[in-house]
Amino acid sequence: SSKKSFSAAILNWYDAHARELPWRSRPGEHADPYHVWLSEIMLQQTTVVTVGPYFNKFLTFWPTIHDMADAPLDDILTAWAGLGYYARARNLHKCAITISREFDGKFPKDRDELLSLPGVGPYTAAAISAIAFDRAEVVVDGNIERIISRLYRIDTPLPAAKKEITAFASELTPKSRAGDYAQALMDIGATICTPRTPSCAACPVSRFCAARRVGDMERFPVKAPK
Ligand code: ADE
Repeated sequence: SSKKSFSAAILNWYDAHARELPWRSRPGEHADPYHVWLSEIMLQQTTVVTVGPYFNKFLTFWPTIHDMADAPLDDILTAWAGLGYYARARNLHKCAITISREFDGKFPKDRDELLSLPGVGPYTAAAISAIAFDRAEVVVDGNIERIISRLYRIDTPLPAAKKEITAFASELTPKSRAGDYAQALMDIGATICTPRTPSCAACPVSRFCAARRVGDMERFPVKAPK
């Protein structure tokens, strides 16, 4: 089906072109849930380039979630300085304490259980479940919204278009390797399907893209006037 060849094209691209980021596993290895959680919290409002060194520093200070749980909050806040949105650092510490002391250091695998943790919203819960536990969750961040709205030339403006985008994203998400699939879309959004002058010639799924066919990629996603 075209659904299957879409995800197959995305996953083949990822196997050849994935960005090597410090929180990602080596190909074929399992990502550490602690690493996935820490990176996803940091990446909520901060770019990949800025997060890299902070992520490495945090793992040097606190190699396990138990180490982070046992640290004084002030040490976490000091290490966080420069990342902004300090509520994230407070929730990070709270969540580390919960996982360390109530969950025996193990993150839950289910999206809904992850959602109950401090600082973990719908996007982050789906991302951790898919990336760390290979669950077939639908992951939609800003990059993925842009890709989907171009694939289908979605005329509804954001944020109203979110439901429509999620429905299309859900149709396309594969039952296996959903985490690799999501991270592939993030990489394609960051490096190929960019907001301005996307590099469609390098895109593994340009043949599926309605906006590419028409040539009006930059019109999408449509945004409601502020
Ligand atoms: N942004 C949020 N999560 C990410 C990830 N796992 N890889 C790349 N960019 C991201």
